[in-house]
Amino acid sequence: MKDSIRIQSFTGKTLNQYIPDIAALRMKIFREYPYLYEGSLKYEEEYLRAYIEARNAIVVIAFDNGRIIGASTGMPMEHETDNVKQPWSDKGCALQEIFYFGESVLLPEYRGRGIGVRFFHQREDWALSLNRFRILTFCAVVRAEDHPLRPNNYIPLDVFWNNRGFNKTEDLVCLMKWQDIDQDKETEKQMHFWLKSLKVFSTAKSA
Ligand SMILES: CC(C)(COP(=O)(O)OP(=O)(O)OC[C@H]1O[C@@H](n2cnc3c(N)ncnc32)[C@H](O)[C@@H]1OP(=O)(O)O)[C@@H](O)C(=O)NCCC(=O)NCCS
Repeated sequence: MKDSIRIQSFTGKTLNQYIPDIAALRMKIFREYPYLYEGSLKYEEEYLRAYIEARNAIVVIAFDNGRIIGASTGMPMEHETDNVKQPWSDKGCALQEIFYFGESVLLPEYRGRGIGVRFFHQREDWALSLNRFRILTFCAVVRAEDHPLRPNNYIPLDVFWNNRGFNKTEDLVCLMKWQDIDQDKETEKQMHFWLKSLKVFSTAKSA
């Protein structure tokens, strides 16, 4: 049977037509533990527009017969918000050498078929093609082990991320605010950064 799944990368204005569907997908998937995010479409659409405007940002989209079933984002760290950049600048890191992975979201029924792995490959290939990044990073929310909304069968993504070549940093943490589905107002969350050093970094420029 022919596979109906297509995975394609988009940059700039070509993304415009997909923003509402990706916004809805993010809202749906991020309601799950550990994000527990009570989102608003208005905020989501504004958030995603940054990926149209930021130079060299990328969104990888998975389609099944034309329907969006997953998406994954990335942008150069220099275009990120101050709370994300702050821990890196405080450490004296060169922001222009860091590429930041925003998120990966995939409908549950499509998981475990290699689509998430392809999201990581396509974003890494994009960062490598820009030929100036030494570090890939993303951050993940920190939740208490005994959080009341943690499902009994929850499997952390740590091993999946390790297998993609990322390691949890010792102390790089930022703060993000959102409303949890079981709360009535926004609260601040700790987000822990994960890091992968890019080994292939060519300084050769054609004459
Ligand atoms: C993170 C997420 C996108 C991963 O997507 P996924 O498509 O299920 O992941 P994959 O199927 O690519 O990989 C899972 C494992 O299955 C393996 N796999 C299964 N079928 C495969 C196939 N056909 N081809 C390649 N790998 C396959 C992968 O190799 C991987 O195992 P490994 O880590 O031992 O290498 C998905 O779990 C998700 O949307 N989670 C909720 C949102 C979230 O928490 N996002 C992360 C924070 S932003």
